[in-house]
Amino acid sequence: MPNNRNTKKRILTGDRPTGPLHIGHYAGSLENRVKLQDKYDCFFIIADYQYLTDGLKQTEHIEEYTREVVLDWLSVGMDPEKATFFIQSQIPEIAELTMIFSMMVTLARLHRNPTVKDEFKTSGLHAMSYGFLGYPVSQAADILVVRSHLVPVGDDNMPHVEQTREIARSFNSIFGEVFPVPEGLVGETARLPGLNGQKMSKSMNNAIYLKDTTEEVNQKVSMAITDPARIKATDTGHPDICNIFKYHLAFNKPEARDIEKRCRQGKIGCVACKQNAAAVINAFLDPIREKRAEYQAKPGIIKNALQAGIERTLEKSRETVRLVREAMHFEYEDLLNGKNIIAG
Ligand code: TRP
Repeated sequence: MPNNRNTKKRILTGDRPTGPLHIGHYAGSLENRVKLQDKYDCFFIIADYQYLTDGLKQTEHIEEYTREVVLDWLSVGMDPEKATFFIQSQIPEIAELTMIFSMMVTLARLHRNPTVKDEFKTSGLHAMSYGFLGYPVSQAADILVVRSHLVPVGDDNMPHVEQTREIARSFNSIFGEVFPVPEGLVGETARLPGLNGQKMSKSMNNAIYLKDTTEEVNQKVSMAITDPARIKATDTGHPDICNIFKYHLAFNKPEARDIEKRCRQGKIGCVACKQNAAAVINAFLDPIREKRAEYQAKPGIIKNALQAGIERTLEKSRETVRLVREAMHFEYEDLLNGKNIIAG
């Protein structure tokens, strides 16, 4: 099949390099990316500058964490032959656009971003840096540097997509049409809760990782919090407030409805239900584990994916910045060519 990347609409999305990805990432976005990469020209970013918002003093593992993310991407079927993988800091044009866009956003507007507020609360930091408050502007630059049309994200990132749309419109209205106004695309699967019912995240220590072993998954699932209103196995259960039921919905579709019914009737206990959940999660992870081991043994694949991806992103980003400078009258052609434009 001919490579018709250039006629496809573009997508940009990605992850912070916080280390290995978990099943929440999979259900919330990775699964969707694997489908989207066939239909769209996809750019997948590893947002290392964004990691600095709360990871400024923990950069010693950034390279290892980036490797983990790429390994997870490859293992779930994100394909560097179809899509473009790149690292944010390797694209200087993102920093340039961030500078320009920062002039188009008020402080009051940044302070209204609910996700930034939440993340600051859970970050444990005492004071918010300029870059933390402003990271949605840098994320707008991630998205707009490739002039992306679509941005598949979790609902927590929708405020950033809205911010990006405002910036694109603002730029276009001041300087003329350069950017598409990108659409956000929220996946169908509701966010998977962590093992304790809170948002699944590394910092909460409540995540099942794609690289976890069978034993780790069994152990974690057996310790998970289920329906707090249920004491005995014969009590009637409430699947709608049970974390494990959410895992059944995401990874055990054929059986989920039946389990729901039996739980409500008190006909399946939490222990059996958890064992079932652990088994389906393990069955889902097995092929991913296998691929991960293969890719881990061939570091050249990661290197090639990133090298080609960065190169390809640079082509697009340089073109974008050329268009931006042209639109802004920031080319300085006469001045830099020694032409005297004063008449006479
Ligand atoms: N904010 C995203 C997250 O934490 C990561 C990200 C950075 C991103 N730049 C992006 C997502 C651009 C979509 C588009 O998960």
